[in-house]
This record gives sequence, C-alpha cells and structure tokens, in this order.
Amino acid sequence: MHSTVAFLLTSLTLSTTAIVLPRDDVRLAVNPACGDYSSSSVKDVRGSLPDLKTFSTIVTFGDSYTDGGKHDGSPLGPAAINAPNPSAGGRHTNGPVWAEYLAQAHGATLKDYASTGAVVDVNQWPERSFPTSNDFLTQANNFISQRNLTDPDSTLYVVFFGIGDYVESLDHNNSSLSLQTQHILYTINRLASSPIFGKNFLFIDNHGRGTETPAGLSFKSQIFKGMNSIQQLGLNTGFVDLSTMWDGVLSASSPGFKAFGYTSVEPCLVSSESTEGSCEDPEHAFYWFPGAPTTVTHKLISDYVQAVWDQC
Ligand SMILES: *[C@@H]1O[C@H](CO)[C@@H](O)[C@H](O)[C@H]1NC(C)=O
Ligand SMILES: *[C@@H]1O[C@H](CO)[C@@H](O)[C@H](O)[C@H]1NC(C)=O
Ligand SMILES: *[C@@H]1O[C@H](CO)[C@@H](O)[C@H](O)[C@H]1NC(C)=O
Repeated sequence: MHSTVAFLLTSLTLSTTAIVLPRDDVRLAVNPACGDYSSSSVKDVRGSLPDLKTFSTIVTFGDSYTDGGKHDGSPLGPAAINAPNPSAGGRHTNGPVWAEYLAQAHGATLKDYASTGAVVDVNQWPERSFPTSNDFLTQANNFISQRNLTDPDSTLYVVFFGIGDYVESLDHNNSSLSLQTQHILYTINRLASSPIFGKNFLFIDNHGRGTETPAGLSFKSQIFKGMNSIQQLGLNTGFVDLSTMWDGVLSASSPGFKAFGYTSVEPCLVSSESTEGSCEDPEHAFYWFPGAPTTVTHKLISDYVQAVWDQC
C-alpha cells in the first residue's frame, strides 16, 4: 500500500515536470470583431490609424492593466519578481504589461503614465478613497505639463480606462458613467490641442472584464461614438474592445480558456500582497491577482491590439 502511494507520487511528480510547456503555448484563440464607426454596435476599429511601424513613441494612460511601475513617462524598470513581493518591478502582474509587448514589437519608446487603481476622475466618486489620486485627468496633466514634445505623426496615444469606474458604478446602483465618457473624450481633445497636437489615438476598453450592465454598455458605446467624432475632426482614432477576448476565455464554450492554452481562469495568487501560495503554473494562468492578468495574458492583449491593426 505504502509503496503504491509512493510510486504514484513519484510518477505524478515526474509527469508534472514533463508537462511544463513553453511559454508561447498560450495563444490568441479569437479574432477581433472588425468593423467601422458606422456599425450599429461597438466593433474593433483601426480607423485611419497608420501602420504600427509608424510609431516611434507610444504614450499610455490607464490603470493597473497598463501600469509599468513608473507613472511619469520615464523608462520602466526590469519586470522581475522579487519574492515574496508579487509585483514585477511595481507592475500589477508577474512580468511586462501589454504596452511593453506592443512597444517592443516595433521598437517604439514607451512613455507610460498609468497608475494602479486609477479611475477617470476621482471627484466623480467623492466618498471613495482610491489607491491613487493619479486619475486620467491628472495623468494627462502630468504629461502635458512636462512639455517633452514628440513628433505627432509618429506618436500613438493610448487611453485604457473604465474598469475602476465600472466597479464603482456597480457599487452605486449601476449609476451612469456618462460623465466619465465626457471626461475621456474631452481629455483626448486636449491632447489633440496645443501644445501636444496629438494626431493618433487608440481607446482600449475592458470595463466589465467579462460582465456587463446597461451603464457599462452605454459607457463603451458613447466612447465608440466619440472616437468617431474625433476622427471626423481629421485625427486618426481606433477602438479596441477586449470583451471578445475576455468573453472567449471566460465563457464555457466559445471557445473557452482551454482553446487559448490556459489551464485555469482562477487567479494564481489570492491577493496582491505576497507570492505565498502561488499556483504551480503561472505560465498558463489567465489572472495573476484576482481580476489582474498574468503577463502571458498581457502578451495576448498586445497580440489582440496588433491583430486589430492587421485584420481590421
Ligand atoms: C523626454 O522624453 C524622452 C523620450 O521620449 C526621454 O528620453 C527624456 O528623458 C524625457 N525628458 C524629460 C525631461 O522628461
Ligand atoms: C440604491 O437604490 C436603492 C433603492 O432605490 C436605495 O435605497 C439606495 O440608497 C441606493 N444606493 C446608493 C448607493 O445609491
Ligand atoms: C446592476 O445591473 C446588473 C445587470 O443588469 C444587475 O444584475 C444588478 O442587479 C444591478 N444592481 C443593482 C444594485 O441594481
């Protein structure tokens, strides 16, 4: 009896070692839902944005999904885990974030202003104390006031917000997010004005991370319409809707997480405090912390954005 158990344990250990798969085994198992701004529902739109190779600088604003550990556009530190701290170089994940993969794909310089816990405008939720007051309005102000001007033709501005505000909306009886959409569109217009004169803007949406409410849907479609209006002004705008990827992973069958090469959609760590109790196989886990992607998922976000450029 004992020897059987021992034998089973040994073979389990061996087979566990044997099935560790290469990192690139996780792959995008959905295609973007391509469309244009005349679509009646929200689609992935490349619009008139030029080839990704055009951009030598990518400027990013956002929350933990985009936070590379610095919040002032300066070069990011190494994306290494220093256990038991589970945040790779201040990132809310176990390696590079999506924007780093995207910038690397064509050798662009990344200037990242995103902050973990950021919402669009902290003053919209006055009784809340957020992990950071570095909201989108502040991030854009910081960038503009640096006056570190780059060539508008070769700079892509990416705005990736909505997750924190959606969570607040849920906590406030599904309150409307229309003030947030107005702030986002107004701030993009500021970035298109003096002294920045930005020309190329991409909005990335993942507000519901696989769930939806009327307020969330309205947030997304108002920004989609707004990006169309901004493009009508002669600027280049695109829209990436990550719900196709999130629904594809989280739904039981269309196509489901296994088709992406994930072994689990459970977070690898129970909290963002410590690496203790880590799952065995973070390379095939969808989330690192609850609701926060692993770096392999960040890579797929970058792949999805590039697929919008290639296919849409
Ligand atoms: C300005 O941006 C460049 C990269 O675009 C960076 O190398 C430089 O350090 C920045 N300067 C300041 C003062 O922020
Ligand atoms: C939510 O709605 C209920 C019923 O309409 C109300 O009693 C409650 O105060 C509301 N809560 C918030 C946070 O607005
Ligand atoms: C918010 O909306 C969702 C989806 O429509 C619904 O299931 C939930 O009950 C709503 N919550 C409140 C507090 O109204």
